[in-house]
Amino acid sequence: MRVVAVAGAKGGVGKTAAAVNLAVIASAAGYRTLLWDLDPQGAATHCYRARAKVKGGASRLLGGKRDLQTYVRSTDHLRLDLLPADPSFRVVDTILSARRWPDRVIRKLLRSLDGSYDVVVLDCAPGLGVVTESILAASDVVVAPIIPAPLAVRSLDQLDEFVAEHRSGVPVVAFLSMLDERKVLHRQVLTQVRGDRRFALAAVPVSSAVERMGMEQVPAVVASPRNLAATAYRRLWAEVEERLGLERPAVTVVDLDIPEDGSPEVVDDAVAPGDEGAPRAEVP
Ligand SMILES: Nc1ncnc2c1ncn2[C@@H]1O[C@H](COP(=O)(O)OP(=O)(O)OP(=O)(O)O)[C@@H](O)[C@H]1O
Ligand SMILES: [Mg+2]
Repeated sequence: MRVVAVAGAKGGVGKTAAAVNLAVIASAAGYRTLLWDLDPQGAATHCYRARAKVKGGASRLLGGKRDLQTYVRSTDHLRLDLLPADPSFRVVDTILSARRWPDRVIRKLLRSLDGSYDVVVLDCAPGLGVVTESILAASDVVVAPIIPAPLAVRSLDQLDEFVAEHRSGVPVVAFLSMLDERKVLHRQVLTQVRGDRRFALAAVPVSSAVERMGMEQVPAVVASPRNLAATAYRRLWAEVEERLGLERPAVTVVDLDIPEDGSPEVVDDAVAPGDEGAPRAEVP
């Protein structure tokens, strides 16, 4: 079982959007997948049409007296389960700080699921606190969305330092999130990160297909599989899969309507990274 944490210090950068889409891509590729929504806001839970409620709340769940599997719910998607959020996750740092070995809690809980899942995706709340330490200790890779702004790119250094301090050796896969290539600054940041090996080649463009997820409660890669953001999430998953050294399971994959030749069809306003031929309006 491999654990993918979608995490970072900054809020509102696309962590949940990535977690929701990567999880369904993994399940469609044949991996038995669990998405654990660790954010009290419960945005990922909402995208999967579930109620953000866990019986007994965070203290009972983290207490570990009950098997983690008892909190798991199925989703509308084959091979994809959900561990929903709960508003009480707001005090998770306090609960963990009171434990003798806070950094071991999440890892120990996840161990009880070993054998049931191939991939676990953790949608983390923003911040680098005690809970992130515990998540790191359980994770095989950290996926970090970075919005194309100079300060945001520096927040990756912060995450790298945090990882080096608490769990050195865990790979961090950063990617540009909400990229709008009509903007000069975004293009400059894109050029800058192209030479930075910490960044995935996949960059997720700004797209209304992703925005609509909150309303339609369907992952963008399912609702709009040919959208450029959906294509970017699939490429990102391929890079994460490679970093994890995963081998595709020999099962029937779910067709997410992925174009055979890999050439995406633009069906909404998503802006293609590196789409040099497209007419471009300058947006400051
Ligand atoms: N590629 C995208 N294109 C357009 N909008 C996006 C994209 N990715 C995310 N968003 C929007 O940006 C907002 C923040 O995204 P998201 O909730 O995924 O961020 P987050 O990092 O999980 O936030 P938080 O730190 O609050 O948990 C949401 O309204 C989402 O719909
Ligand atoms: Mg989120």
